[in-house]
Amino acid sequence: MGRAVRDLEVASDQTGPALALEEVSRQFAIAGGATYQALDRVSFAVARGEFLAIVGPTGCGKSTILSLAAGLLRPTSGRILSFNAPLERLNRQAAYLFQQDVLLPWKTALENVMLGPLLHRWPRGRAAEEARRWLARVGLAGFEDRFPHQLSGGMRKRVALAQSLIVGPAILLMDEPFSALDVQTRELMENDLLTLWQEERKTIVFVTHDLEEAIALSDRVLVLAAGPGTRVIGTHAITLPRPRDVTEVRLHPAFREVYRTIWAQLRGEVLRAYADQAGARARGGTA
Ligand SMILES: Nc1ncnc2c1ncn2[C@@H]1O[C@H](COP(=O)(O)OP(=O)(O)O)[C@@H](O)[C@H]1O
Ligand SMILES: [Mg+2]
Repeated sequence: MGRAVRDLEVASDQTGPALALEEVSRQFAIAGGATYQALDRVSFAVARGEFLAIVGPTGCGKSTILSLAAGLLRPTSGRILSFNAPLERLNRQAAYLFQQDVLLPWKTALENVMLGPLLHRWPRGRAAEEARRWLARVGLAGFEDRFPHQLSGGMRKRVALAQSLIVGPAILLMDEPFSALDVQTRELMENDLLTLWQEERKTIVFVTHDLEEAIALSDRVLVLAAGPGTRVIGTHAITLPRPRDVTEVRLHPAFREVYRTIWAQLRGEVLRAYADQAGARARGGTA
């Protein structure tokens, strides 16, 4: 068996967890030659098909964890596996959805969704056909020829979602994707995301600072401590029935109960992060 064939088999091993972080630490170089320890031995695994939410105070390291999982950052120590394969470069099984818009303003919705396929050298006709199909799946049939500035914030998010899903990633890494949207748009997007997730059987890692959103969407909520040296301080299974409507599920008695439990754990970390930032402001920092 040739080496290329063996590599392909390793890369497509679908038996292990979609993602596993093993004692992952990450430091950043900061001004004056000092280092900032963002993560301290963070360990967790995400099962194939699981919807995992990660919550923690602002600045605790949520985006850092997603960048590590995407292979955009390397751990300072520890290791990351995706479907049993140690992550050495970009995580080819994963698509990353950022908080900010990353659509190209001079391209139409259709052309934006075609970018990934064309990069993967799909024939143009097939790329366009699939892009139309994905735009329809995210509720944007008829909007193919609009430019990003002609779309609402929610619609731009839908284009970004189609852009991620078209290349068939097994894992979606989502960094506070809906936090800039108004409440109604956000709930529509959340419900549509749940529908897509159930139809496509993707693994989703969803970062948010909004505990209600985390509970409404996920199978499990992971709680991070405030930094520096962020650790995982709790994981909570969310056993609310599915399929869920994110508005209705918030009224479920079990929702309030699990909210109280997790908030009891998260509250102290949020206060600690806030106190640190207020302290830094008082000392003339920029936090
Ligand atoms: N490239 C970087 N250089 C220096 N510090 C960084 C860098 N990236 C992140 N940090 C610091 O690491 C901590 C975690 O950041 P981040 O992962 O963005 O937090 P969150 O997404 O939870 O708000 C913050 O204190 C941030 O300032
Ligand atoms: Mg962040």
